[in-house]
Parts: sequence; C-alpha cells; structure tokens
Amino acid sequence: MVQAHNDDTLSVRPASDDDLGAVLAIERVCYPEPCIAWTEEAFRQEIEKPFSNFLVLTDDATDTILTGYIVFWLLFDECHILNVAVHPDWRGLGIATRLVRHAVAAAVKKDMKRVFLEVRKTNTPAVELYQRLGFFVDHVKPTFYENGDDAYFMVLYLNKSNVF
Ligand SMILES: CC(C)(COP(=O)(O)OP(=O)(O)OC[C@H]1O[C@@H](n2cnc3c(N)ncnc32)[C@H](O)[C@@H]1OP(=O)(O)O)[C@@H](O)C(=O)NCCC(=O)NCCS
Repeated sequence: MVQAHNDDTLSVRPASDDDLGAVLAIERVCYPEPCIAWTEEAFRQEIEKPFSNFLVLTDDATDTILTGYIVFWLLFDECHILNVAVHPDWRGLGIATRLVRHAVAAAVKKDMKRVFLEVRKTNTPAVELYQRLGFFVDHVKPTFYENGDDAYFMVLYLNKSNVF
C-alpha cells in the first residue's frame, strides 16, 4: 500500500529496466483486461527507442515509490503521447497534469507544432484532464482499440497563447 502525500516531494526522471515491475503493476490495475494493458516488452522497447521518452514520477526521499508514468514520442515536428497512468492511491493530486505538462514542455523546447494523443471516448477523467490542459477533440477514430472501443484523437497546438 502506497501512502499518499504531497506531490511536491516527487520528481520526474527517465524510466529504467528496474522500474518495469512497478510500472506493470500500475498498468495492470488501470487495464485489468490483458489485451489492453501494455506488456513488459512494450515498455522495455520504449526505453530503447531514441525518439521515445518514458518518464516516471518517484519520491525524492527513496526514489522507490513510483506514482505514475508517461510515454511520449518526439518525432519530426510533433509530440505523440502514447501512455499516461497514475497509481490509484495518488490520483487527484495533479500527477497526470504534471506528466502531461512535462511532455508539452519537451515539445515546446524542440519547437514542435503540436501534441496529440488517442484516448478512449468513455475515459471521462482522462478526456477532461486533457481538455483542462488545452487539448481539443479533433476527430473520432472508430474501433481504434483492440476491443473495439472508439478513440478521440485530441490535439494541442503549440503557440504562445496556449503554452503554460
Ligand atoms: C486519467 C489519469 C491519468 C488522471 O491522473 P491524475 O493524476 O489523477 O490526474 P490529475 O490529478 O492531474 O487530474 C485529475 C483530477 O485531480 C484534480 N487535481 C489536480 N491537482 C490537484 C490537487 N493538487 N489536489 C486535488 N485535486 C487535484 C484535477 O482538477 C482533476 O480533478 P477532477 O477530474 O476531479 O475534476 C488517472 O485517472 C489514470 O491513471 N487512469 C487510468 C489510466 C488512464 O486512463 N490513462 C489515460 C489514458 S489516455
């Protein structure tokens, strides 16, 4: 059981192979259906891809409490967010907001044009999170997910007025 506390004592760092156990534990809680959850191999590949950023947010004191993670690609002039998840004990504390802002800041630093992602139409907490950060629904991708669920394709265009 993870003890929830103030997220000021947490920092973002790149994931390593040693984090995969904790990452998979969160992934399996988020997606109990095995065909939806990312596999250990899928996460491992993201550590190795040069254009991929696989980041975790851990406690500063011990660097062992892994509260959440994000995977995003910085490719050409676009940032693609592929996965964001937060441990249930740490939700509602702004951790996903912090991780997504980190991806946006990385894209801004590389002078990229937009950040985009796919999210299940039914995933209201995630859709609202992205909307709060300035993303909008560009279009629906019908049966985008393996189980037949539709996705929203959401976009944040990067310009002086929407960058936080
Ligand atoms: C969607 C998900 C990533 C959100 O993570 P989170 O860390 O709880 O998100 P945040 O805390 O940044 O924002 C969510 C809520 O917390 C609120 N919040 C933000 N900072 C806060 C703070 N300091 N104190 C209290 N609440 C806060 C936000 O206003 C928001 O509130 P609301 O949704 O109740 O209106 C998380 O629910 C999750 O892991 N879900 C399963 C995986 C998933 O669906 N991932 C997205 C796939 S695209």
